This record gives sequence, C-alpha cells and structure tokens, in this order.
Amino acid sequence: MSSTAKVFVGILSVAAFAKAALYSNTTKFNHTCAIKPTIQSCSIAALDLANLDTCCTETYGGQLLSTQFWDTYTGREDEGQLLPKKHWTLHGLWPDYCNGSYPQYCDLSRQYDREPPHEVNGQRVQPYNGTGVDTFIKDWDRYDLLDWMNKFWVSQGQPSADFWAHEFSKHATCYSTFDVPCYGPKYRQHEEMIDFFDTAVSFYRNLPTYDWLAAEGIVPSNKTQYSLKNITAALKKHYGAVPYLGCYGEQYSQVQGSKNTSDHGLTVLSEVWYFSYANGRPQDGNVTHIDSTAPSSCAHTDGAIWYYERTPSSERPVHHK
Ligand SMILES: *[C@@H]1O[C@H](CO)[C@@H](O)[C@H](O)[C@H]1NC(C)=O
Ligand SMILES: *[C@@H]1O[C@H](CO)[C@@H](O)[C@H](O)[C@H]1NC(C)=O
Ligand SMILES: *[C@@H]1O[C@H](CO)[C@@H](O)[C@H](O)[C@H]1NC(C)=O
Ligand SMILES: *[C@@H]1O[C@H](CO)[C@@H](O)[C@H](O)[C@H]1NC(C)=O
Ligand SMILES: *[C@@H]1O[C@H](CO)[C@@H](O)[C@H](O)[C@H]1NC(C)=O
Ligand SMILES: *[C@@H]1O[C@H](CO)[C@@H](O)[C@H](O)[C@H]1NC(C)=O
Ligand SMILES: *[C@@H]1O[C@H](CO)[C@@H](O)[C@H](O)[C@H]1NC(C)=O
Ligand SMILES: *[C@@H]1O[C@H](CO)[C@@H](O)[C@H](O)[C@H]1NC(C)=O
Repeated sequence: MSSTAKVFVGILSVAAFAKAALYSNTTKFNHTCAIKPTIQSCSIAALDLANLDTCCTETYGGQLLSTQFWDTYTGREDEGQLLPKKHWTLHGLWPDYCNGSYPQYCDLSRQYDREPPHEVNGQRVQPYNGTGVDTFIKDWDRYDLLDWMNKFWVSQGQPSADFWAHEFSKHATCYSTFDVPCYGPKYRQHEEMIDFFDTAVSFYRNLPTYDWLAAEGIVPSNKTQYSLKNITAALKKHYGAVPYLGCYGEQYSQVQGSKNTSDHGLTVLSEVWYFSYANGRPQDGNVTHIDSTAPSSCAHTDGAIWYYERTPSSERPVHHK
C-alpha cells in the first residue's frame, strides 16, 4: 500500500474521533439509496468516494463478518441468562477492512463499552458507566427485539446487554452505512444502534449453523470427536463459501496420546465467522458470500475436534428462530 493511502487513512481516523463521523464531508441530506447504484463493498467502484454515497455503499469496513459462538454455559445461569437449545448464539456483525485487518471504536462519542481497551489509536478510551443499552431498546419500544436478543444474543460471564454495547461501540461505529448523518436531519438518538441490532439479527437468522451441521450428521457430543475438514465442508455446503472456525482449549499436540505432535491447533470448537461483501447497504441484506481470509485456530488432524454438548441446566428450549 502506498504511503499516500496510509496518510489518507490516518486523516480519516482523526476526523472520526474529532467529528463523530467517519467522513467529515458527509451531510445529513439526500441519502436515498433506492435511487442510487448498488455498489459492492471492496469493489473498485467502492473506492471512488467522490462519486458515491457512503451511506449507501459500505466504504469503511467492506468485508462483513457475521459471527456466532458455541458456548456450553453462560456463567450467569442464576440470573436466567441461558443458551438457546439447538442454536449457536449471535456474536456480532463486523465491518473488517477489505485487506482483512479491522478498525475499532471509530467514534468515542458513542462509547457504551463498560470494559473497553485502555486506548485506541493513541486515544484514551473511557469505560462507560451509564444505563445499559437494553434501556435504549426499550426507549424505542422495541420489546420484541429485546426479547429476541435476550434469547439468541447471549454472552458468557457478563450481562448480555453489556456485550451488545461492546459490539456496537467496537464494531458498528466503524460502518459508513450506519454512520449518524445517514439517518437524516430527523435522526433520533440511538436510531443507528437499533438499526445495527436489527441488521445483525437478520444476518444471523440466515445462518442456522446448528441445523447445517446437524444435517450433515455433526451434532454436539461429549463422546465423539470431529474433523475440522468435515465441519468446514458441512458449512461450506450450505453457505456456499468457507467460513472461519475458531477453537479454544488444549492444543492437539499437547493432548495425551496425541497422534500428531506437529498439530498445535486447538481442540474445542467455539466460533464461526461467515464472510461476505455487501451489495448496497448491509441493512438491505443483499450480500455475496466469500471465503474466509483467516486461518482456522482449530486442530487440523482427523478426529481432533470436540463439539461439546452443553450443560443441560445452561440451556432452554426456544420456540421460534
Ligand atoms: C438534495 O437533493 C435536491 C434534489 O436533487 C437538491 O436540490 C438539493 O440541493 C440537495 N441537497 C443537498 C444538501 O445536497
Ligand atoms: C469526502 O471526503 C473523502 C475523504 O475524506 C473524499 O475522498 C471524497 O472525495 C469527499 N467527497 C466529496 C463529494 O467531496
Ligand atoms: C488495511 O487497510 C486499512 C484501511 O485501508 C489500512 O489502514 C491498513 O493499514 C491496511 N493494513 C494492511 C496490513 O495492509
Ligand atoms: C462515569 O463516567 C464519566 C465519564 O467517563 C466520569 O466522568 C464519571 O466520573 C464516571 N462515574 C463513575 C461513578 O465512575
Ligand atoms: C444485489 O446485488 C447484486 C450485485 O451488486 C445486483 O446485481 C442485484 O441487482 C442486487 N439485488 C437487489 C434485489 O437489489
Ligand atoms: C498433522 O498436523 C499438521 C499441522 O496441523 C497437518 O498439516 C497434518 O495434516 C496432520 N497430519 C495428520 C496425519 O493428520
Ligand atoms: C469425516 O468425513 C469422512 C467422509 O464422510 C468420514 O469417513 C470420516 O469418518 C469423518 N471423520 C470424522 C472424525 O467424523
Ligand atoms: C459436555 O462437556 C462439556 C465440556 O466439558 C461440559 O461443560 C458439559 O456440561 C457436558 N455436557 C453434558 C451433557 O455432559
């Protein structure tokens, strides 16, 4: 990448912090995406900022990642924070850069994370200590969305609403298409947050990981291990592109009786990331699925992966998707 481009990006970051908008020249007016061309994020046309509407084409983080978790417990069962049976849970919808690295906390005036990093791009980040973002959803009278999020967007070790706040401030503030000026002169506070939650939910609902794996005979088990290759193939069959799979736990090479001491990949399946480009606004859901650009953290040896059953008392049945 040329040094001119780097300087350009540096200026944008400063503008993001100072002006609370990703591009200081974005006005509140005339973002009628329905009458503008549908441009694919990360395409050549998406680089031509002077001739497109950054509210209608994703130009900041053009590589979208719809991400999910497989946890076996929440650590907050006593508070009623339970996992949805036969479903992975929603993690987020991230706007990575087209080259695979990613921006974060792009607008500190919309910082709702209670445990943010100490600093980002040399800027000190204040931990948020106000009312939870669940109250913003209530202020918008979106109790149905809130119920859904409590069922399917479930965190581990922290209240789910704190996790939604983290996802919003870390990632959603880095989308050109969810930027505040895009919502026009009658913008109401948190409008873009509700829109982001809606969009993350609609992406997730098109990606039934549990069902896709089960259809290929891959179901949670505390007795049988699976192969990364088989899990990947099962998901590719349904998604049409290769997702990223994330694992934690012991390295395969460290496991007692390991058959493959050179495989340092991890052995407990816990995450999936589905990659796509947005054709027009992510909100409108027209996406092109693409292969993951990130190497899996999971062990590659046949039969090395645990896809654990959940602790029964950590789950509840859910009656709608
Ligand atoms: C919005 O669009 C109208 C009609 O094309 C145009 O007259 C007006 O100048 C535009 N406003 C701004 C602020 O760009
Ligand atoms: C808005 O600013 C960006 C850089 O911040 C620039 O590339 C673009 O050409 C500008 N758009 C217009 C219409 O001037
Ligand atoms: C990736 O792209 C971003 C945004 O254009 C840029 O800031 C970053 O330096 C690039 N990273 C690499 C590794 O090229
Ligand atoms: C809450 O956060 C604000 C802004 O960062 C800070 O000024 C205030 O002291 C904090 N209050 C508490 C009780 O931590
Ligand atoms: C979806 O995006 C593709 C690729 O840009 C475009 O050809 C198609 O017309 C779009 N579909 C809709 C319904 O907008
Ligand atoms: C052993 O692990 C390496 C590194 O993950 C992998 O490339 C290789 O295919 C594995 N061998 C067997 C027999 O699974
Ligand atoms: C992976 O899939 C192959 C082909 O369907 C099958 O023979 C093999 O048993 C599977 N491996 C595991 C560990 O499930
Ligand atoms: C399966 O194993 C996981 C990981 O050890 C554990 O958390 C879970 O409770 C077990 N589930 C069942 C049904 O035994």
